[in-house]
Amino acid sequence: MHNRRLHTASWLAGLLGLIVLSGCNSAPQSGGTGGGGTGDTILVGSYLSESGSEADFGKSTHEGIDIAIEVINKAGGINGKNIELRAENTESDPAKAANAVTKLITNDKVVAVIGEVASGLSLAAAPICQSNKVPMVSPSSTNIKVTQQGDYIFRVCFIDPFQAYVVAKFARENLKKTTAAIFVDNASPYSKDFGSEFKKNFEQMGGKIVSEAAYAAADTDFKGQLTKIKTANPDVLLVPGYYKNVGSIGKQARELGITAPLLGGDGWDSQDLFVTAEDALEGSYFSNHMAVDDPAPAVKSFVDAYRAKYGADKTPGALTALGYDAMMIVAEAMKRVKVIDGPSLRDELAKTSGYKGVTGTITMNSDRNADKSAVMLQIKGRKFVYMATVAPN
Ligand code: PHE
Repeated sequence: MHNRRLHTASWLAGLLGLIVLSGCNSAPQSGGTGGGGTGDTILVGSYLSESGSEADFGKSTHEGIDIAIEVINKAGGINGKNIELRAENTESDPAKAANAVTKLITNDKVVAVIGEVASGLSLAAAPICQSNKVPMVSPSSTNIKVTQQGDYIFRVCFIDPFQAYVVAKFARENLKKTTAAIFVDNASPYSKDFGSEFKKNFEQMGGKIVSEAAYAAADTDFKGQLTKIKTANPDVLLVPGYYKNVGSIGKQARELGITAPLLGGDGWDSQDLFVTAEDALEGSYFSNHMAVDDPAPAVKSFVDAYRAKYGADKTPGALTALGYDAMMIVAEAMKRVKVIDGPSLRDELAKTSGYKGVTGTITMNSDRNADKSAVMLQIKGRKFVYMATVAPN
């Protein structure tokens, strides 16, 4: 597997160093005029799951956006104007995601929208951003359809066809596994399409899918499906879901005597995984956007800045870093436009090229996706341990 360090960004390290030194206690000055930039602040909206089943996704991302805004405003804002965030909570609910974005655009008149994490929620809100010509940047929705909603919709992360390829390749080449079972949430575009992309890649690489099963996000008992999976005796069990379900599935799989490692993707990325899994996922693997134990200076500075603000015992996940990078590329685009309006911002966001973020170098391709490396992590002692980096094809 091709190993490559995440890119470094010394200027960023410098800026983050400033935050650490100053203790990050200066809140952005707020003129609060509305109108998305007619006063002395520029309003940016976020819509994130800050409660509900994926609450940790939203809270983690919000922290990253807040750190970015502090860095930007401390460095003089956007041509002298501070950025101010209007944050809406989608409560992990697609209908609420759509309402949140409508409110941000219609009432608050934000000039850009950052969100969502879960692809199903980004898909619910993207058409509203598109029809209102307000650019939306998803930090972390990886389903291929998200940016296909229109030319105002961007993301700073890779997409699931790549992520699923990375996991399949890791299973075949690194773990030397031949058979796999796939267990997905069919109502989640993320989970469902990840499963089918994995299947395609794993089979192309000579592997065999021996069992396929589905669950619903609200389920708590997975033993019926897991019993069938156990009979098929797979070498690995792919569960491309979100942490809460994955934790319970891992726990129940072990209780039933399934010993195969579980495999998954970025949806596992939360310390809350262990609330339901406890130690059941020891030794399992998942793909992610970055490894916080990566020694690259940009990552290290970011982790230090995060700890200075939120506590020395805390560790940011990839979501926090992606929230940070999403806010940063919006700010960079703002600096390049004469008047901040939707169409001009859109055009500049599309030109994002070679931006050195915490999660890697971000260049918007013609589909408004970022072609970036993925990392494979292993769960050891309730920690996510870096295994390998896979570069985009
Ligand atoms: N990629 C997931 C989705 O599209 C969301 C996610 C990203 C979750 C990163 C955790 C970490 O639904």
